[in-house]
Amino acid sequence: MLDLKSVGMSKGMLYETIITTTNPDKTPNAAPIGVICKSLKEVVVYLHEGSHTVRNIKNNGEFIVNILKDPLLFVESTMEDLDIDNFMEYEDNYSIRDADAFFKAKVVDLKEVEREDQFGISRTSIVRADVGEIIINKECPEPLNRAIYGVLESLVYLSRKEIVSGKTEELYNMRMKEISRIVNKVGASEHKQAIKKVMNAWNEE
Ligand SMILES: Cc1cc2nc3c(=O)[nH]c(=O)nc-3n(C[C@H](O)[C@H](O)[C@H](O)COP(=O)(O)O)c2cc1C
Repeated sequence: MLDLKSVGMSKGMLYETIITTTNPDKTPNAAPIGVICKSLKEVVVYLHEGSHTVRNIKNNGEFIVNILKDPLLFVESTMEDLDIDNFMEYEDNYSIRDADAFFKAKVVDLKEVEREDQFGISRTSIVRADVGEIIINKECPEPLNRAIYGVLESLVYLSRKEIVSGKTEELYNMRMKEISRIVNKVGASEHKQAIKKVMNAWNEE
């Protein structure tokens, strides 16, 4: 049987996917969610309280992870309900019709915790799920990971270091710190090494 390597995932990395679930009235729901590849057969998701996704996963005990790069599908599934034409029925669930790949995930553990981050305290469900059948629609699917984009953004700012000052420099300082935080959260060791090098150069007098 295929494992997560077949969809380009590596252990320990966090990927931006669209998770599809089934609402209580049997209609489909879609939302962008970060999926951590815990092992090649297991994923973990952190779900903030209050979304349709967390409600549906608690009700159904399973969900579909869709791997795709279509920017409009990310925007529309965040801001509104996706049009029904974007979905495809898959067993008792729905997947995204044009996904590069997708797989079913079956919940094996769900823990509710209170977490504190820079936005305050929130209730989060930490869901561990086993990877089921993997469907690949496109050759060599590549899941989205934000780390490389962060490194590239930081390099653009670094290349302007000598020409910015005042308010713009302050703004760039804040952005560089945020980019570094994200790369360290979602990246592999090579991304962390890369951003460390950029930050060292940025912080040099
Ligand atoms: C790229 C991206 C990643 C996201 N990751 C998560 C996540 O890991 N956990 C979460 O609870 N919400 C996450 N969100 C926010 C949800 O997608 C958002 O709250 C969505 O509106 C929930 O929709 P729903 O109510 O239909 O489930 C993410 C949003 C984006 C754009």
